[in-house]
Amino acid sequence: VFRASGLTTLPSILLIGPSGSGKTSLLTLFERGTQAAQTHTSQAPIAVECDLPVGKTASSARYRSEHDPANLTTKKFLLIDTPGHGKLRHHALDNLTNPQNLRGIIFLVDAATLSAGDEGLRQTADYLHDILLILQKRMESSSGKKPKEIPLLVAANKMDLFTALPAALVKSSLEAEITKVRTSRSKGLLDSGIGMEEDGEKDDWLGEVGSKDFKFAQMEEFDVLVEVSGGNVAGGEPVTEKWWRWISERL
Ligand code: GTP
Ligand code: MG
Repeated sequence: VFRASGLTTLPSILLIGPSGSGKTSLLTLFERGTQAAQTHTSQAPIAVECDLPVGKTASSARYRSEHDPANLTTKKFLLIDTPGHGKLRHHALDNLTNPQNLRGIIFLVDAATLSAGDEGLRQTADYLHDILLILQKRMESSSGKKPKEIPLLVAANKMDLFTALPAALVKSSLEAEITKVRTSRSKGLLDSGIGMEEDGEKDDWLGEVGSKDFKFAQMEEFDVLVEVSGGNVAGGEPVTEKWWRWISERL
């Protein structure tokens, strides 16, 4: 296959999430295919070329016949890992505001740190709120041609740990906590006087205006499809089937 400008033309999947959720571990697992490598907290983004494993057919190839030679070539994509540390998140945001053939975002969370009252829950909801707001604004601000939709998978990692919440609870806990973030952000804006002019305040409201509770489904209006599913990268036999399927459907 001829590629004019190298890796940048490959479809890419962006890995975002709080520090320690397992992003770099996931990257090494998907790159090697067998086992995640030891990691250190990341200070810079990394991008690796991955192959969609055999047996998982990309959606663009779904209607081809079994004997079509195009099915024999594995589908490649670029997986981009970003640092989760609060001071290094501009790397993730750069990739979001200037996406190059971006097909989806995997927001990886540590499902064992999301119990009610856990500091991890607040920090995770905070970060996810900001990412979703960027995606919402990207859709709202575009006049004329609508930008391509960017689906987001909340991957609930570390399911091997007995303290991990099941995916359905990860979903409802994050929705409830994002509701709180959304309320406190809008109060903060009112108190500071920022966003008072015209509909500045409305612009920074995530999801449905006037809704009491935030739900991920409210993002559909902005062409942001959010799904939540569980798995584990390390801690024994990796379980990543659902995440692979999600990726394969976006290539
Ligand atoms: P930053 O680079 O700081 O943003 O963190 P990160 O999201 O890249 O986390 P990293 O991949 O470095 O993983 C953090 C720790 O979690 C490592 O010790 C991993 O071995 C561990 N870890 C990752 N995935 C799993 C998992 O599924 N189960 C368990 N038990 N541990 C995991
Ligand atoms: Mg990392």
